[in-house]
Amino acid sequence: MVTGAGGALGQDLVARLAAPDVPPTDSVRAQPRATLDVTDADAVRAAVHAWAAAPGEGPAVLINASAYTAVDRAETDEDAAAAAWAVNAEAPGLLAAACAEVGAAMVHVSTDYVLGPLPGGERRPLEPDDPVAPTGVYARSKLAGEERVRAARPGAHHVVRSAWLYGATGQNFVRTMARLARERDTLDVVDDQHGSPTWTADLADGLVALARSSAPAGTRHAAGGGATTWCGFARAVFAEMGADPERVRPCDTASFPRPAPRPAWSVLSDASWRAAGLAPLPAWRDALRTAVARHPDLLLG
Ligand SMILES: NC(=O)c1ccc[n+]([C@@H]2O[C@H](COP(=O)([O-])OP(=O)(O)OC[C@H]3O[C@@H](n4cnc5c(N)ncnc54)[C@H](OP(=O)(O)O)[C@@H]3O)[C@@H](O)[C@H]2O)c1
Repeated sequence: MVTGAGGALGQDLVARLAAPDVPPTDSVRAQPRATLDVTDADAVRAAVHAWAAAPGEGPAVLINASAYTAVDRAETDEDAAAAAWAVNAEAPGLLAAACAEVGAAMVHVSTDYVLGPLPGGERRPLEPDDPVAPTGVYARSKLAGEERVRAARPGAHHVVRSAWLYGATGQNFVRTMARLARERDTLDVVDDQHGSPTWTADLADGLVALARSSAPAGTRHAAGGGATTWCGFARAVFAEMGADPERVRPCDTASFPRPAPRPAWSVLSDASWRAAGLAPLPAWRDALRTAVARHPDLLLG
C-alpha cells in the first residue's frame, strides 16, 4: 500500500509498482489523500485492515509517501503548523500502529532537515546516526514522525531520509528555475547550502527495492549520488535548457532569507544504503538529464 500516492514521490512509487517487470505476485494499493486521509485514525485502521485482509501473496509493506511539505508556511501560519504536525508526526505513528496490528512492514520517508551540523563544523556525507537537530516546524514534525514509526513498529520498519526531491508532477526547484530562466536575464541562487538533488523516480525504485529486500529494520539515507549547491543545481537546469549557466549568479543564504531555516550541509552518505545490499541511487547530474529527457515539460516551468 502506498499512502500519499498523489504526491510527487507517491505517483512514482505507484508507477514503479505497476510496471511490467514487477513480479506478478506484487500488487499495489494506491491511497491518495482523496481515498485515505492519514490523519484520520479510524480511516487508517480500516484501510490497513481491509488491505491486509484482501487475498495477496508475499509480505505486505506499507510505504508512506504522504507529508505536509510547505515548510515555510508551517513557520508562519498556525493552521499550517498544526497540519504539519498531524501529517508528519502523528500520522506515521497511526500508520505504523495499524501495520503492527496486521503484521505488515512499513517504509517511511523522512528528510535531511532532521539532521544537525556535524561537531566542529566538519563536512562529510551524513550518516543515519549523526546528530539530529531539527530547526523549524517541518523538521521537528518529521523527526517526531520517525520516532513514532520506530516505536510503533519495532523490528519491521524502514525509515529512509532523502533530500532535495523533484518529480515529474507538482511544483519543484527544476520547474521554478526553468520558469525563471525564461522570465529573467540573471538569477541569484544560494551557493552556500550543499546537498544531493534526488529524482523521485530513482528514490521510488530504491524504496521498492528496500521493501522487497530482507534488510533489517533501521534508518537509512538515500539521495542522488554526489553533491552540489542550489546554485549548481540551477546551473544544471539552465544547461539542460540550452541556456547559459553563467546567468545563474551565486549568492549566500543571508541574502535570501526564508521563514524556515535550511541546513547548510545536507549531503547524505549512501553507506547505510549499500550496507543493506541496495544499489545506490544514480548520480544527481545523470538523473537530471534522464528526468528531463523523460519529462521534457519539466523545462517548461
Ligand atoms: N520535497 C522534498 O524536497 C523532500 C526532501 C526530503 C524528504 N522529503 C519527503 O519525501 C516525501 C515525499 O515528498 P514529496 O516531495 O513527494 O511531497 P508532495 O509532492 O508534497 O506529496 C505529499 C503528498 O502527501 C499528501 N498529503 C498531505 N496531507 C495528507 C493527508 N492528511 N492524508 C493523505 N495524504 C496527505 C499530499 O496531498 P495534497 O497535495 O492533496 O496535500 C501529497 O499528495 C515526504 O515524506 C517528504 O517529507 C521531501
